[in-house]
Amino acid sequence: MRVLILGGDGYLGWPTAMNFSARGHEVLVVDNYLRRNLCRKHDVEPLFAPPNLYERVRIWKEVSGKDIQVRVGDCCDYHFLVSLFKEFQPESVIHYAEQPSAPYSMLNHEAASLTLCNNLQSTQNIAWAIHENCPECHIVKLGTMGVYGTPNIDIEEGWIEIEHKGRKDRFLFPRQASSFYHTTKIQDTDMLWFYVRTWGIRVTDLQQGPVYGMETDETVLDDRLGTIFNYDEMFGTVLNRFIVQAVAGYPLTVYGKGGQTRGYINIRDTIRCIELAMLNPPKAGQLNIFNQVTETFSVNDLAEKVAAVGRDRGHDVQIKNIENPRVEKEEHYYNPTYSGLKELGLDPHLLTDDVLDSMFEVVEKHRNNIHEHKIFRGVKWG
Ligand SMILES: NC(=O)c1ccc[n+]([C@@H]2O[C@H](COP(=O)([O-])OP(=O)(O)OC[C@H]3O[C@@H](n4cnc5c(N)ncnc54)[C@H](O)[C@@H]3O)[C@@H](O)[C@H]2O)c1
Repeated sequence: MRVLILGGDGYLGWPTAMNFSARGHEVLVVDNYLRRNLCRKHDVEPLFAPPNLYERVRIWKEVSGKDIQVRVGDCCDYHFLVSLFKEFQPESVIHYAEQPSAPYSMLNHEAASLTLCNNLQSTQNIAWAIHENCPECHIVKLGTMGVYGTPNIDIEEGWIEIEHKGRKDRFLFPRQASSFYHTTKIQDTDMLWFYVRTWGIRVTDLQQGPVYGMETDETVLDDRLGTIFNYDEMFGTVLNRFIVQAVAGYPLTVYGKGGQTRGYINIRDTIRCIELAMLNPPKAGQLNIFNQVTETFSVNDLAEKVAAVGRDRGHDVQIKNIENPRVEKEEHYYNPTYSGLKELGLDPHLLTDDVLDSMFEVVEKHRNNIHEHKIFRGVKWG
C-alpha cells in the first residue's frame, strides 16, 4: 500500500515507518519536529539523541536496501498537506501527528493552546485534504483509551447501544477524559465522526493505551535506528519511566495510592495493530473504533513488576508514593473491552519478565545519559 505516515519522526511513527517499509509498503513520512523541539525547550531530551529524519532514512536504506520518502513540514499548514496528498496519492494515512503528552497539555495556557490548535487543526486538515483530493484514502488515527476516563461501567469498543423511553439507538460510548490532551482526542473523534457521516470518508480510530518498549524487528538491526525514548514525567510513558528510574537509583514515583488502572500495549503490538487496521478499512461512511490495549495493570502492579526485575538485576529499587499531581480517581472500577484487533489477527506480546529484562538492557546501556533533574517536572493539574 502507499502509506503516508504523519508524525513519522515520533516514538511510534519511526518504528512504524521502518516496519511498513520492511513489509513492502511504499512509505512517505512527514514530521515538523514538534516533539523534539518541545523536549529541547523544556529540558527533557530523550535517553539518546536519534539522528534527524533524513539521516534516519539514509541509515535505513544502508541497512535494509529499502527507500522511505521524507518531507519535513507542518500538518497544520493545509497547502503543505494537500501537496503531499496530490503528489503521493496515499491509500492510507496514519495520523500520529499530535502533541501527545497529558502533563504538557496541563502545564500552562500556552501549552494547552498549542495542544488544542495542533491536534485539532492537523485532524481537520487531513479530513479536508482527503475529501478534496483522495476520497477513497483511509485515515487511521491514533486516539487514546484516556478518552473514556474511568467510568463505573464496562467500557465498550467505541460504541454503545442505548435504550431510552422504549427506543434504541447506537452512539459513541460516553467519554470523559482526565487531561486536556485526552480531551482533544475526544474532539478529534467527534470531528471525524461528523465528516464520516457527512462526506462518507473512511476512518479507523484506535483508542490506544500507554505504549511501552523500544525494540521492534527493525530497531534492533542497528543502534542508530532506535526510537525516541523519553524518561521524564512530561513525555515518558509510565513503564518506560519506571525502568529508567530503577536504573538511575531514583525511586519509582507512584502518584497517590497507585490504584489507577489502565490498558497497556507493547510497541511491537502497536505497529501490528496499525497494520491490521490499515489492511481492514471500513466501508465508505463508516467509523471503526478499536480499543488498542492487550492487558490492564494498576500503577502499583507496574511498579512492583519493575522493582522485582530491577532487584534481580542488582539495582536498589525503591517505590515512593508521592502526592498525586493529577486530578483522577486512585481506586476505581476498570473493565474495558478489547477484542476487535485480536479478531483481526493480533497475537499480543504480553508484559513478561523477559520483556522487562530486554528493556532494562537497553536502558542500562545508556545509563550515563540519564539526568536525574529531567525526571521530575512537577506539572500539576490543579
Ligand atoms: N505513546 C503512547 O503511549 C501513546 C498512547 C496513546 C496514544 N498515542 C498517540 O499516538 C500518536 C503518536 O504518539 P507518540 O508517542 O509517537 O508521540 P510523538 O510525539 O513521539 O510522535 C508524534 C510526532 O508527530 C509530530 N507532530 C506533531 N504535530 C505535528 C504537526 N502539526 N505536523 C507534523 N508533525 C507533527 C511530532 O514532532 C512527533 O514526532 C499521538 O497521536 C499520541 O497521542 C500515543
